[in-house]
Amino acid sequence: MDVVRQWIREARAIAVLTGAGVSAESGVPTFRDALTGLWARFDPRELATEDAFRAHPQRVWDWYAERRQALAGVEPNAGHRALAAFQARYPGRMTLITQNVDGLHQRAGSTVLALHGDLCTDCWLDDPKPCCNRRPPQPGRPPRCATCGNWRRPAVVWFGEALPEAELMAAEAAAESCDLMLVVGTSGEVYPAAGLVHQAHLAGSRVVIVNPEPSALDGLADAQVRERAAQCLPLLLED
Ligand code: OAD
Repeated sequence: MDVVRQWIREARAIAVLTGAGVSAESGVPTFRDALTGLWARFDPRELATEDAFRAHPQRVWDWYAERRQALAGVEPNAGHRALAAFQARYPGRMTLITQNVDGLHQRAGSTVLALHGDLCTDCWLDDPKPCCNRRPPQPGRPPRCATCGNWRRPAVVWFGEALPEAELMAAEAAAESCDLMLVVGTSGEVYPAAGLVHQAHLAGSRVVIVNPEPSALDGLADAQVRERAAQCLPLLLED
């Protein structure tokens, strides 16, 4: 911990990549944890693809609606808050890149590059731009946009879909130019997000992994902090 704290103090540009583990202590389930992860209980091919939505629109809509509802009852934790406080103390020094769609970094006050979208907003199913929301949607599961009649779907990136281009480009630029990359609470199994860590490592940045369990990116790490995010981020990031 002390070595990593020192590296953080020294770093001019820090990139942070977060995954579901940073929200675990807020009570949001992760995806791949063996007992509690969403993908241990549900098959992502049946819920997180466009084909699944078209085949079973009501089932998929309801599953996301349940996750949205669960989010209404959770709060950012000390890990989210420590990252937001660091960004506020040192403007421009930390680029926070997240795979999470739960909005908890944003609610803690962080500016983020959200690579996988936002669970709590809708976009159109065909032509997936943000729904115009000019009129209240026609009720239904899923609802339809009252203006154009298009089905609405959650604005998250499903398997097989491209990441938002501007966010990915900004994240890649941060990975290329940082001198320290903190990788927090991700299994590192999903690309292109995990590729950012390879990029930072190849560009000569230090890589620190914060995760109580082994991850697929451990081979790239200059240091590993085997702790839970909400416990250790406040200590790592305080002055
Ligand atoms: P995973 O569920 O794959 O990994 C969560 C990681 O968090 C695991 O490595 C855990 O060991 C770790 N973890 C659990 N509790 C933690 C804690 N308190 N502190 C720190 N780490 C902890 O989640 P992601 O890597 O985020 O995609 O998954 C990547 C993507 O796969 C997600 O964004 C999602 C999913 O399919 C989309 O929604 C598009």
